[in-house]
Amino acid sequence: MSHVTAVSFSPTGGSQKGALSIARELDPNCSFLDLTLQPPAAREPFGPTDLVVFGAPVYSGRLPSPAAARFSMLRGQNTPCIVTVTYGNRDFDDALLELAQLVTPLGFRPIAAAALVAQHTYGEIAVGRPDQADLEQNVLFAQQVRQKLDQGGTTPPAIPGNYPYREGGAGAFHPRTSEACVHCGTCVRECPVGAIDAEDPSRIDAAHCLSCFRCIKVCPTKAKNMDTPAYRTFAAAFSLKLRERRDNLYLL
Ligand SMILES: Cc1cc2nc3c(=O)[nH]c(=O)nc-3n(C[C@H](O)[C@H](O)[C@H](O)COP(=O)(O)O)c2cc1C
Repeated sequence: MSHVTAVSFSPTGGSQKGALSIARELDPNCSFLDLTLQPPAAREPFGPTDLVVFGAPVYSGRLPSPAAARFSMLRGQNTPCIVTVTYGNRDFDDALLELAQLVTPLGFRPIAAAALVAQHTYGEIAVGRPDQADLEQNVLFAQQVRQKLDQGGTTPPAIPGNYPYREGGAGAFHPRTSEACVHCGTCVRECPVGAIDAEDPSRIDAAHCLSCFRCIKVCPTKAKNMDTPAYRTFAAAFSLKLRERRDNLYLL
């Protein structure tokens, strides 16, 4: 294997952490292709001796559509890959299967897969995850993948999920903007889908907003928020419902 590349779409960083922790264990000099803010630049296909670690979040049991669209622009040449999705302690439903089936016709060959838990975007769910224990498990998994590759293993992992996939979609929470906004433009630049108006950042294009809350996370003055009674009620109930810790799933 010549070179490992982690490729992720990760508005709040959970999927990136997962993919990178696996890629770095496989190759401390791995490359990183971050597709959160833009599609990939034109590039040569990955080769048969490369290894790609894909990472994307689960949105409503599916891949977020920009993640699918941006990954679709990459090509492999019978390139082994590890597919990972990261979810917020509810379920990953069809997203891992969708990712494997998305990249296969592009020339990638899934040799391992993982569904990893990270803090949920909403409420207080799986706070602090991936934690130390998660990252240690990722390292062990990477070592097992290395072993499989060294032994010439090519069997694809059996990935749970249904096809046709369940109905996906972005969330319906579109962040608000308080008077603390200083029009610095951070949220405009950092929105994965360019949904925030550059002239008036309080205007969010609801048709494109993913409800990923990246703008809330990056806002330096905490002006971006989801501080509404409806959201607070939902978040409290959802957090209660999903309080039981779920385990990562590793498939070889
Ligand atoms: C619109 C939306 C839908 C989501 N749907 C699910 C879901 O179906 N199951 C789940 O467990 N987590 C779900 N989550 C939580 C994310 O998968 C989780 O927070 C993930 O870590 C986000 O990845 P990122 O940090 O790489 O952006 C959803 C989050 C958002 C914003």
